[in-house]
Amino acid sequence: MRKRSLRDLPPEALDGQRALVRVDFNVPLKEGRVADDTRIRAAAPTVKYLRDKGARVVLLSHFGRPNGPDPTLSLKHIVRDVERVLGTPVEFIPDPAAGVAATRRLPRGGVALVENTRFWSGEEGNDPGFAETLAALGDFYVDDAFGSAHRAHASTEAVARLLKPAVAGFLMEKELRYLGDALATPRRPFVAVLGGAKISGKIDVIQALLPRVDEILVGGAMASTFFLAIGFQVGGSLVERDREEVAQSLIARAGAKLILPRGAVVAPSLARAAERRAVSSDRIPADCAIFDIDEATRLDFRARIVRAKTVFWNGPMGVFETPPFDAGTRAIAEAMVEAGKRGATTVVGGGDSAAAVAGFEDRLTHVSTGGGAALEFLEGKPLPGVAALEDA
Ligand code: 3PG
Repeated sequence: MRKRSLRDLPPEALDGQRALVRVDFNVPLKEGRVADDTRIRAAAPTVKYLRDKGARVVLLSHFGRPNGPDPTLSLKHIVRDVERVLGTPVEFIPDPAAGVAATRRLPRGGVALVENTRFWSGEEGNDPGFAETLAALGDFYVDDAFGSAHRAHASTEAVARLLKPAVAGFLMEKELRYLGDALATPRRPFVAVLGGAKISGKIDVIQALLPRVDEILVGGAMASTFFLAIGFQVGGSLVERDREEVAQSLIARAGAKLILPRGAVVAPSLARAAERRAVSSDRIPADCAIFDIDEATRLDFRARIVRAKTVFWNGPMGVFETPPFDAGTRAIAEAMVEAGKRGATTVVGGGDSAAAVAGFEDRLTHVSTGGGAALEFLEGKPLPGVAALEDA
């Protein structure tokens, strides 16, 4: 069921109204400044639209996982960066219970940011009383926090049931379109590329994708567990020995759809990268570990990706934070860009996937801002923050 969106509200009805907008500004900080402002930039189109229509914009977000008020996790640390990205002054509201007057004083097109919602226990308790406090800060509710939609918290769930209209913002709408519709009824061939360290966190995603995809290409440390399941030795590679049976049953279910790496780049350790070499997947030396997919696999995966009409990618192919073991991950990003040029829909999401495609974002159809939320959504779990919004 499509959710009602900001687009569905008559623009003239927004003039002078206070829009309570839940965003996900749970961004990384380094030396007091925002180290990656992707999530702030991703929410900017919704804020800009509301401001252009004369609304007063009141932003709500959580930040980190505090146990009660914690000065190091105050959202005031990010105000300057929010102002820079939005190109407008942002008023900080330190206490939502005392913030109504400040929201009413905002000029048309003005923006305010409320303190970290997790400073109040009612937030994670999805408490109706705290939701009422939040609801008083707006005349209608917009949820643009896809990254937090898997949490049934007062600012994502209870408030949406209290304050109407409760609609999806543009980012939320885009996330649902590309992680939802585009992958549920994909243009074919549909190829999924899965990597990262663990099978354990991805089993449900693999199960959910299997019936929909034409091929699943597996890389990263996750591939080692599959190697073990088919009887290959993996040396000192990162592997989940207790998931061997799960890997076996996934192989049996997937049949020819599951494509494992032909070979790997191995080395005695990460620090001894100079001694790296490419070996076939059935010849991993006992004194080495796998750190990336090899050239033969890159070419194989590339050929499959560029033929596809829909590509979904989650998780790096190797230890991409440590060059030269980023080559496999980069090769997948380049292949996705090439597939996009040939008309494919290319979607990246979940966990650390966004970091793995840094620098390629603009040439991909969609890079999700959701980590856990994207994975839960792909698994087919209902997201409370989405469920609470009005149906279109
Ligand atoms: C995220 O960064 O994945 C979201 O902001 C959710 O954060 P949480 O896992 O602390 O709820």
